[in-house]
Amino acid sequence: MDIYQIKKQSLSELEKIQDPLELEMFRVKYLGRKDGELTVILRSLKDLPLEKRKEIGQEANKFRQELEEAVKNKNKEIENWKLKIGNSKIDITAPGVKLPHGHLHPITKVLRQVEEIFMSMGFEIVEGPDIETEYYNFDALNIPKEHPVRDLWDTFWLKDIDLLLRTHTSPVQARYMEKHNPPFRIIVPGRCFRHEATDASHSHTFYQLEGLMVDKDTSVANFKAVIEEFFKRLFKQEIEIRLRPSYFPFTEPSFEVDIRKNKNWLEIMGAGMVHPNVFKAAGYNPAHWQGFAFGMGLDRIAMMKYKIDDIRLFYSGDLRFLKQF
Ligand code: PHE
Repeated sequence: MDIYQIKKQSLSELEKIQDPLELEMFRVKYLGRKDGELTVILRSLKDLPLEKRKEIGQEANKFRQELEEAVKNKNKEIENWKLKIGNSKIDITAPGVKLPHGHLHPITKVLRQVEEIFMSMGFEIVEGPDIETEYYNFDALNIPKEHPVRDLWDTFWLKDIDLLLRTHTSPVQARYMEKHNPPFRIIVPGRCFRHEATDASHSHTFYQLEGLMVDKDTSVANFKAVIEEFFKRLFKQEIEIRLRPSYFPFTEPSFEVDIRKNKNWLEIMGAGMVHPNVFKAAGYNPAHWQGFAFGMGLDRIAMMKYKIDDIRLFYSGDLRFLKQF
């Protein structure tokens, strides 16, 4: 290459360089002491006729200085880029997009509080399947096929097979008792489903919390004490409760539990003493054991705790609602 070619080529090459390694290779190629293009030219000056030597010599020396300067500048430029973008080609100085923080769903929050309270009273947490057999959802709970009480639960049946979406968490009572011996205390949180029209206080999908305590002489008095303590801790104040007679096939006697909020009594759960037939179905001798069971709607508890007036909000996925918790 002659000096004029070098001038043209080197500058356009330099322009494209983006990283330090390339720049060093470039420097060696043109300015390298041993056989950089410019060095070669300067070294071969002595073989040229005087006139040419002067002309080329001046030209080459001037350009060497220019090129050295240009390499220095390029080096600064690269350093500056590095400061700005790091080693990746991402511009870390560009304004960021803030990722919103998520948090627990209000039902999950309430569930965790409820679990903590019951665990501190010696209850274990047990779960069961959302898709249940007819046997556990009904038969094992003293609700035979032709029993009119099945109408109480509007069930989602799975097509052509003996399966359904559980209408309550009570089937887990039967499942647990088949595999464990008393004494025990369990709670069973879980999703339940009912085939019914939705409105502000009904949803086809909702959460229940089942409780079951069995021992030799567990009584209604024990139930009252446990449940009073539970509400007191959940609402962080003394809560008045009352039991009203009711009917469930799997408890005898059965009752509804109301709690007093301001002037009003609110129905909050179903409960009762475990029916002998339920013990029998699980393989227990009902003469030896007794216990209480209860089931409450977690949604309703959450609605009370957070003063929410429409159950459908829980399942709407509406961020305007969810962000309030
Ligand atoms: N399983 C009943 C319901 O869904 C509630 C309940 C549970 C009642 C345990 C008594 C005992 O309505």
